[in-house]
Amino acid sequence: MTAINRRRALTGSAAIAVGVPVLAACGSDDDSPASGATDSSSPSPSDESPSEPSADGTETPSGGAALATASTVPVGGCFVNADAKVVVTQPTEGDFKAFSAVCTHQGCLVESSGDGEIPCPCHGSRFSLEDGSPVSGPATAALAPVEITVDGDSITEA
Ligand code: FES
Repeated sequence: MTAINRRRALTGSAAIAVGVPVLAACGSDDDSPASGATDSSSPSPSDESPSEPSADGTETPSGGAALATASTVPVGGCFVNADAKVVVTQPTEGDFKAFSAVCTHQGCLVESSGDGEIPCPCHGSRFSLEDGSPVSGPATAALAPVEITVDGDSITEA
């Protein structure tokens, strides 16, 4: 009877000794992931997504940014939208084209003009209203074309 009691006593104390660390580890695991996940992940994505559409949404819901109105682009001239860095030209009445307004020489913005070409104020390059190609240097490369949509008086990026 005493031998059985010793075995039961030893087995019982061993089980208690093993069980205490396991319980302690489970308790610490429950606290850390729950607080970290709720604090850091949920507020940041919801804060960023509403601010982006309000910054981009000027007038056109279908994606293209407003570049100019037809009346701001002279026939035989060009209008520069400095924010969009796009120059809109009207080589002949009702025929609108658009190009990057960043000069291919050293990156200045070209200027609005009514004199039949797209001038760059920095070093005097001039570009064609028709295709953005250089008419006179120092620039040797054409302005990159930009696709546009003309809807009535509104000219937007396509
Ligand atoms: Fe335009 Fe030099 S940057 S001509």
